[in-house]
Amino acid sequence: MKNDDCNIDLKSHWNKAYEKSPTEKLGWYEDVPNLSLEMIARCKLDKNAKIFIAGAGSSTLIDTLLEQEYTQIVANDISDEALELLQSRIPSNKQKYLDCVVDDLTNPTLLKSQTNIDLWVDRAVVHFFLKEAEQETYFNLIKSNVKKGAYVLLAAFALDGAKKCSGLDVFRYNAQMFQERLGEDFKLNVAKEHVFINPNGDSRAYIYTLFQKK
Ligand SMILES: C[S@@+](CC[C@H](N)C(=O)[O-])C[C@H]1O[C@@H](n2cnc3c(N)ncnc32)[C@H](O)[C@@H]1O
Repeated sequence: MKNDDCNIDLKSHWNKAYEKSPTEKLGWYEDVPNLSLEMIARCKLDKNAKIFIAGAGSSTLIDTLLEQEYTQIVANDISDEALELLQSRIPSNKQKYLDCVVDDLTNPTLLKSQTNIDLWVDRAVVHFFLKEAEQETYFNLIKSNVKKGAYVLLAAFALDGAKKCSGLDVFRYNAQMFQERLGEDFKLNVAKEHVFINPNGDSRAYIYTLFQKK
């Protein structure tokens, strides 16, 4: 399927993906998102820092961040199914620390008011934005909604990585491309190449980067 075709309803595409397979069988599922957690630990955030997870899906990262006692987590996704799945497994005493926002990162409405972010996390989302206008909107949203001194963790398929994910074409990145998109107000803190083995046993080459806003 080509996702640069305007006729594709991406919200339905992602809703179907989450309806069809249990979370642990999804091609992007991580039992423990070790590299994201390692990079988040480098940020040395306060427990009340505002952590925004873009295209969170039903990621286990949120469960772990709540276990680590972070108290201001915002999980976004275009798929309401994904966020319902996520919310349904969060223990009731932790629900108040998680806010779920269904919105499109490439055509934001509700997300415009998600400002003062201390950490923006994107794993395997930005690479679905193929068109220049989508990329521009997305990076502008990051730039305007994160605080001075905030961190931005971007993890996407690497230049030698797979050309598709979830049946959709992807736009692959290296650290320099992220730097160019974010601009000189953001300083690269660390970049790591990472090979993710998905639940089917296939390898997926990623680039993980952590930037800080000056
Ligand atoms: C490959 S999954 C990765 C999910 C999660 N970040 C993780 O690492 O497990 C991509 C996610 O991005 C979401 N997504 C795709 N396009 C989006 C958009 N335009 N706005 C918000 N979320 C989007 C999908 O619904 C899906 O949950």
